[in-house]
Amino acid sequence: MKIAFYNSKQYDQEFFERANQNGAHQIRYFSSHLNLESTSQISDEQVVCAFINDNLDAAVLHSLKAKGIKLIALRSAGFNHVDIACSKQLALPVVRVPAYSPYAVAEHAAGLLLCLNRGIHRAHNRIREGDFSLRNLMGFDLHGKTVGVVGTGKIGQAFANIMLGFGCKVMAYDVVPNEQCIASGVNYVTLEHLFSQADVISLHCPLTPETHHLINHKALEKMRDGVTIINTSRGKLVDTKAIINALKTGKVGLLGLDVYEEEEALFFEDFSEKGIQDDVLARLTTFPNVIITSHQGFFTQEAMLNIAQTTLSNISQFELDGSIQNGVG
Ligand code: NAI
Repeated sequence: MKIAFYNSKQYDQEFFERANQNGAHQIRYFSSHLNLESTSQISDEQVVCAFINDNLDAAVLHSLKAKGIKLIALRSAGFNHVDIACSKQLALPVVRVPAYSPYAVAEHAAGLLLCLNRGIHRAHNRIREGDFSLRNLMGFDLHGKTVGVVGTGKIGQAFANIMLGFGCKVMAYDVVPNEQCIASGVNYVTLEHLFSQADVISLHCPLTPETHHLINHKALEKMRDGVTIINTSRGKLVDTKAIINALKTGKVGLLGLDVYEEEEALFFEDFSEKGIQDDVLARLTTFPNVIITSHQGFFTQEAMLNIAQTTLSNISQFELDGSIQNGVG
């Protein structure tokens, strides 16, 4: 099929070209994000391929429909950026990549935790300055600590297993407990209990109206002093201003973010010449006990190849008989 591929980076092209070696599809790569304006770039394509920071609101969906687009192929697991009710109304099917490598994201969450706890980011900078002191670098053993996992689907389960491997006590909260996690030794508790008892809290649930600002002033008040929070899921799970206050008081001891509430305008792009315009994010970057990465949890070779192969397979299936593989909604 003819595919309009938005928001394309060199690494996307590399993996999609590899997955499309048989030339089954004709892909036109656009560097621009998908939005109302950029839909004008579509000529005779039938499929739009979009990423998490593309705009798929009702206005864009109506425009895509009018341009003859038959399928929206998301090259992501998350779909909270799509107006699903509208896509249904327009009979414009949306497919996604439900799983590509839960290990990629879970390992990144573990990486943030280890780096923060032992101050590896600070030690790296310090040694480059010729400072070999251990000042303020004391961490804590993860062994024996209580780790709270919110959302134990594919990624949360992989993260829980890593933490169990470190000798942590793992407690979890999920609206649907995972039997495999229970069998591995994960203890399901209420969210309140998890907040009040965990030394480390890692978020792995999707962004929904129920989980929006799951970590807010009230939740933070319930937590242990010096709690470590890791968010590799979605930025809007955390009320950033509330967490900045909690960092100032020491309520939050360590914070690892791979996602940020207002990341759409910033992440995946280079602002090193312009500087950060977002004052809230800029404030976050001033804390020595905060590490922010630019939504790179998914970014491993294995995950990228899986994303490309599954996206093209979703499109091939639709081309073959109109059926929807890995549909959303
Ligand atoms: P999944 O669908 O396998 O698991 C999500 C789990 O969250 C399910 O067990 C579900 O029951 C649970 N859940 C739903 N509502 C909940 C609630 N209100 N409270 C607690 N748990 C709830 O999804 P998967 O693959 O594990 O991904 C999890 C999240 O990770 C995605 O929603 C996405 O936001 C994020 N993600 C981040 C990436 C990154 O690069 N940083 C890449 C891929 C996904």
